[in-house]
Amino acid sequence: MTTKYRNLFNDTKIGKLYIPNRLAVAPMTRVSAEPDGRVGPLMGEYYEKFASGGFGLIITEGLYTDKLFSQGCRNQPGMASLSHAESWKPITNDIHALGARVFAQLMHAGALSQHNPCANRTAGPSDIRPLGIQMPFYHGEGPYPIPEAMTQQDISQAVEGFAKAAHLAQLAGFDGVEIHGANGYLLDQFLTAYTNKRQDCFGGSLNNRLRIYKETLKAVRKTVGDGFTVGIRFSQKKVNDTNHIWDEGESGAAKVFELVRQYGADYIHTTEPEISAPAFEGTESLSQLAKKYSGLPVIANGGVTEPEQASQVLESNQADIISLGKTALANQDWPCAVKKNRLLKKFNFGMLSPHANLECARSYCQENPSLSVSDKS
Ligand SMILES: Cc1cc2nc3c(=O)[nH]c(=O)nc-3n(C[C@H](O)[C@H](O)[C@H](O)COP(=O)(O)O)c2cc1C
Repeated sequence: MTTKYRNLFNDTKIGKLYIPNRLAVAPMTRVSAEPDGRVGPLMGEYYEKFASGGFGLIITEGLYTDKLFSQGCRNQPGMASLSHAESWKPITNDIHALGARVFAQLMHAGALSQHNPCANRTAGPSDIRPLGIQMPFYHGEGPYPIPEAMTQQDISQAVEGFAKAAHLAQLAGFDGVEIHGANGYLLDQFLTAYTNKRQDCFGGSLNNRLRIYKETLKAVRKTVGDGFTVGIRFSQKKVNDTNHIWDEGESGAAKVFELVRQYGADYIHTTEPEISAPAFEGTESLSQLAKKYSGLPVIANGGVTEPEQASQVLESNQADIISLGKTALANQDWPCAVKKNRLLKKFNFGMLSPHANLECARSYCQENPSLSVSDKS
């Protein structure tokens, strides 16, 4: 085993939960579930490979939380029924048998829903058409529809959906849940002033725009109890707006991160295009700000491919755990490969083309078996 990058392999804790090393798989939607939201046939092997490849923590793709407005795309897995929960049990068992931990990411797509058999319309904070176009690799096409502005009852039902889904995730054997508060989906639509023009207590001031985070975290915590890990993900950028910067700058970030600790989160997961880039002009990175203002363990994500960079982020105390997205798709054994000083493969978008599902990835890898070993000095 290489003696380099030892800090990637130190164990740690999130709350009371032991995590065997500092390397996590970032949540990635793979549109490979059954049409009814149960786990599909290729998903077990896919998730287990990350655990056997040495990742200490796996965060699942975003799972929809209710049978109302939450589903985002076709073949997305759900956590909205007992049959959804049952279908995850073999995966959580196998991951545990391999020594890793696994969190379910709970996601409500809101106005960015591209497919939802439960509703013939979309819903969001305000009736404003989302920027951008639907994502073809999740089977979407054309502009997003104008969502219906949610009533306070719709909001309560969405919050209740997160709480029920968290309970189901507990039954399914997950070690925790991560609430998706990032990337332009429902919670982020409330946080973002240009998608939230509400005049009630869920719109206007930053405190009001954060109210849905508070209600969701509190409802989830009440349902799962103190011993179960609950985290929350934040980003500035969105899948449909890759330039967005939080309007209130560092002082807003300070409030966001302080408040989510008060609301009962055990950890924060930040994602930025470049993990260490200043979040705002002249400031620290988003993960550093999250650490500074929340005092919670922070998982940081964004653009990491090489172990040097991951190790440096930990060394400089910018984060406690690093999550890897695309490079983990190319190297499901990234931690073992680094430990053994093996060459890493380069991610190629062909793996997600034309769709981000596991079948397309499998065909791509069969057609390009040797592709993509990156140079390593
Ligand atoms: C195919 C794909 C699907 C994704 N799905 C999700 C998701 O379900 N939830 C989420 O929070 N982020 C999702 N992301 C974003 C990743 O978690 C991660 O933030 C992004 O890929 C940047 O990290 P990287 O540079 O390590 O790839 C997805 C990314 C990809 C490539």
